[in-house]
Amino acid sequence: MDKPYGLLAELTYSCPLQCGYCSNPLQLDDYRDELSTEEWKRVFSEAADLGVLQLHLSGGEPLQRHDIVELVQHANQLGLYTNLITSGLGLSTRRAEQLRAAGLDHVQLSIQADDQALSDQIAVTSSFERKRVAAGLIKKLGWPLTLNVVLHRQNIDRIGGILDMAEAMEADRVELANTQYAGWAGPNQAELLPTRDQLEGAEAVVQAARERIGDRIDIIYVIPDYYSKYPKPCMDGWASRQFTVVPNGEALPCPAAHELARGLNLPPATVREHSLEWIWTESPLFQQYRGDAWMPDPCRSCDRKEIDFGGCRCQAFALTGDAARTDPVCHLSPDHGLVEAAVAAANDPQRPKDGPLIPRAKVGRTKRAVGAT
Ligand code: SF4
Ligand code: FES
Repeated sequence: MDKPYGLLAELTYSCPLQCGYCSNPLQLDDYRDELSTEEWKRVFSEAADLGVLQLHLSGGEPLQRHDIVELVQHANQLGLYTNLITSGLGLSTRRAEQLRAAGLDHVQLSIQADDQALSDQIAVTSSFERKRVAAGLIKKLGWPLTLNVVLHRQNIDRIGGILDMAEAMEADRVELANTQYAGWAGPNQAELLPTRDQLEGAEAVVQAARERIGDRIDIIYVIPDYYSKYPKPCMDGWASRQFTVVPNGEALPCPAAHELARGLNLPPATVREHSLEWIWTESPLFQQYRGDAWMPDPCRSCDRKEIDFGGCRCQAFALTGDAARTDPVCHLSPDHGLVEAAVAAANDPQRPKDGPLIPRAKVGRTKRAVGAT
């Protein structure tokens, strides 16, 4: 078993935006009892002892935590490389300067679109201008800037404008990632899955932009797996290199595995009851799909099983109700018809005009969590 190199700390599910592609769980209220400042500090210390090198601070919106500067400072003292994953809302000049002084290493800013009206419509919040201001602040304070753009049917045709905007913002890296149908994106899948024509158009635009921009911006483009022959090696395999701790202290091998974990009826792997070392090395949840002993056919006898690890456990669970099945994206999966049907529906010329996305819900926080400083 390898040591984990990355911890995704989802500090809170509170968020000022309501994007319908959000991968946060549908039952947001179950996660309101957030870890305190001291509990998160202990988690970071244990993570560093376990070998973790990179700490990703996410949510929801991590800037909703009043103790974010203190948490960054603690992680920095432990020698962890810290990455703030943010919508930019809440990044005032004062807060940004405090985070810089606390040692924050990197900022990843989410972008919904290059057009104000569309961006605000997708976020269900007036936020476009504030994101532009946040991008300027991030560059001014000397952080490397990564823009993260979740692509889907409603914004993928804007990819050229989004890349122009990235150039204007002097981004160092742009991650163009097609939506994964986890959390709120699950019920919104029909309104999110792009057509084949949209994808082909986007790929051509990305290729042309790469040639024009050269190495000034590192452009990462993740193709939607519904259109692939093979699944992606999700998480580099279950509990292989990284893990997630969610706001109430539950640890998960993957940031989208909330429902899957509950469906397994295994003892909870929570930092409130266990050390991270026990969770990583011994907890039944982390052991469940590690390695290849759990694999059914066709994966068991497939020569790609050490390349893609049988695909995504969350996708298998979401589509078939059984996380131990081959990812239905794989053309060899007995459940592949489920994916083919979704792709056919997305490309059906008779389908009704695209409707609005179901917005991600707002979530309250317990008193203890609000006063977590
Ligand atoms: Fe990957 Fe399993 Fe498909 Fe083989 S059968 S390509 S291991 S998902
Ligand atoms: Fe959870 Fe792929 S999204 S294993």
